[in-house]
Amino acid sequence: MDTAIKTEKLVKHFGKGDTLVEVINDATFEIKKGELVALIAPSGAGKTTLLMMIGCVLTPTSGKIWLGNELVYDNKWLTKEQRKIRREKIGFIFQAHYLIPFLNVLENVILIPELNGVGEAKAKEKALELLDYFGIKDKADSMPANLSGGQNQRVAIARALANNPEIILADEPTAALDSKRSVDVVKMLKKIALEQNTAVIMVTHDEAMVPLCDRVLTIKDKKVYNLAIDEYKNRAIV
Ligand SMILES: Nc1ncnc2c1ncn2[C@@H]1O[C@H](COP(=O)(O)OP(=O)(O)OP(=O)(O)O)[C@@H](O)[C@H]1O
Ligand SMILES: [Mg+2]
Repeated sequence: MDTAIKTEKLVKHFGKGDTLVEVINDATFEIKKGELVALIAPSGAGKTTLLMMIGCVLTPTSGKIWLGNELVYDNKWLTKEQRKIRREKIGFIFQAHYLIPFLNVLENVILIPELNGVGEAKAKEKALELLDYFGIKDKADSMPANLSGGQNQRVAIARALANNPEIILADEPTAALDSKRSVDVVKMLKKIALEQNTAVIMVTHDEAMVPLCDRVLTIKDKKVYNLAIDEYKNRAIV
């Protein structure tokens, strides 16, 4: 399987001197295309920090990051076009759906492809296809305020997929959902990983989601471990 994300000796500190906070230290791990990986660690362990570095949003202190075959960070960003990399390669899903309240469902989903220069007709076609895939095509003209939490989260996932990202970074996408809807969302992410060969990292605090995932990424004492499900269950390393 091809590599989707690779890091080498990735370090992240916040502040300096007396206020120095070391969050991630020497993180070396790899995630393959087509994998759904749960990122599980206690609050404050650095999960969001890790996702935001992989997503080219937060600048690491040192180390290396590859996205696909491209080395994007080597003690500095290797491109001035971080935003372009982000838009083209990465789909973000957050705990809150962050849909734009004054745009309808369809307009929310076509926003990113349009920003990427995909023509309106093509972006619309793709968006409707995604909404259909998630069973909410009939809501295309509705405003987010008139949808349920689960429906809005499905729109947010459709939006994250609209530019065919190689990588999906999801920060507690199921936190606001009941357990049935959570399972539905994780199964959807799994399906996307399998069918589109996308790598998905999903932050979760819900151990019930682990069996639905392919591997577990965890952070302990600032180190990142990439574990098989059985290894995680046996806590052989952590
Ligand atoms: N901009 C910042 N400046 C200083 N410290 C920060 C900053 N962002 C995060 N931190 C610190 O880094 C550590 C990791 O934070 P992070 O948000 O990555 O944790 P998390 O694992 O996502 O936690 P949670 O499960 O609560 O979301 C925390 O100690 C936090 O206080
Ligand atoms: Mg967080």
